[in-house]
Amino acid sequence: MNVLVTGGAGYIGSHTVLCLLNEGYHVIVLDNLCNSSVEAIKRVEQLTQQSVTFIEGDVCNKQHLENVFTKHKVDCVIHFAALKAVGESALQPLKYHHNNVSGSINLLSCMAKHQVNQFIFSSSATVYGEQNPYPYIETMPLGTPSSPYGTTKMIVERVLEDNNKANVDFKAISLRYFNPIGAHPSGEIGEDPSGIPNNLLPFVAQVAVGKREKLTVFGDDYPTPDGTCLRDYLHVMDLAEGHVAALNWLKQQTTLDEVAVFNLGTGTGTSVLNIIRAFETETGKPVPYEVANRREGDLPAFWANADKAKQVLKWQAKRDINAMMQDTWRWQSNNPDGYSK
Ligand code: NAD
Ligand code: UFG
Repeated sequence: MNVLVTGGAGYIGSHTVLCLLNEGYHVIVLDNLCNSSVEAIKRVEQLTQQSVTFIEGDVCNKQHLENVFTKHKVDCVIHFAALKAVGESALQPLKYHHNNVSGSINLLSCMAKHQVNQFIFSSSATVYGEQNPYPYIETMPLGTPSSPYGTTKMIVERVLEDNNKANVDFKAISLRYFNPIGAHPSGEIGEDPSGIPNNLLPFVAQVAVGKREKLTVFGDDYPTPDGTCLRDYLHVMDLAEGHVAALNWLKQQTTLDEVAVFNLGTGTGTSVLNIIRAFETETGKPVPYEVANRREGDLPAFWANADKAKQVLKWQAKRDINAMMQDTWRWQSNNPDGYSK
């Protein structure tokens, strides 16, 4: 079975490509490398001793897509390609809507033309918005996301629903990720943010490796046990395996009456301070920090109800916070400058 993985050179995509290859899938990666390096694909090939068909191209470019679908027989698409910086999306919303929404519509249109009907979409817990109480469960209505980035995820989920109603052959899954962290245990592939990291763990790791002086903890006056925000951190390898479980399930379904939605999370929340402590304990590296004001748009707490993925996909996260910290550190300390060294 041939799987087209858009954004497959990125953080979650590269780990998923590795798992797909290990399961015997043939993988074609389409990535414009706007936030990644082809080195990630080379390392995946080394780790798996298998080859990937890599195409440098853009989902916003209809001709690039047409070339891919004309040249390759594609059975299923896993669509990671997106811009994901929440803060930047508030400053440049049109860039995000163009890349994430128009890019997805181009892709779906090209799939329809070439009668490719299996689709797995990278959605986010942010689609639950701030109205829904946590833990988030898939039966809750879509909320109002706190950023234009989140809105793009919500819009694409809705586009998938409409496309599903109009085409009986179309089978789609929206996977709502919680907070992926960690790296492959080899330390060969991991998260390589460009510039100043937006997310907690890459920042913590860069402080520990000496690239940044200290972490800023955004707020310790939230209504949580230690005052810092709670998130559902899950190991990127668990998340990658979740995609394989989703694909294995999707291909067994003859039709889907509606888009299948699954939370991919652990079902527990961990505070920012507990992450810092766990990192220090597991790595022996101090993480100096200072507490500052809250970051706009941050919710005090959310985590997943992860039962549906367990019952239906037979998937559940199995790696603990300690493994997440150890693997983050192995990647960061082996590759202080990411893939560019
Ligand atoms: P990433 O930036 O590492 O990967 C995204 C990849 O897509 C990159 O390789 C980038 O070069 C590529 N890309 C972007 N726009 C493209 C385009 N127009 N055409 C072709 N390639 C393009 O990000 P990630 O953390 O691996 O995230 C993957 C997906 O998961 C994204 O859709 C993201 O929104 C979603 N997601 C991520 C998180 C998270 O915390 N990392 C949480 C929820 C959802
Ligand atoms: N944090 C800090 N200091 C930092 C970075 C983060 O204290 O330097 C805190 C944040 O305030 C938050 C927690 O660490 O409490 C986690 O922050 P991240 O940025 O790592 O993750 P978020 O939960 O904010 O972001 C995630 C996903 C997005 C999604 C967003 C909104 O990365 O894709 O949730 O739900 F859009």
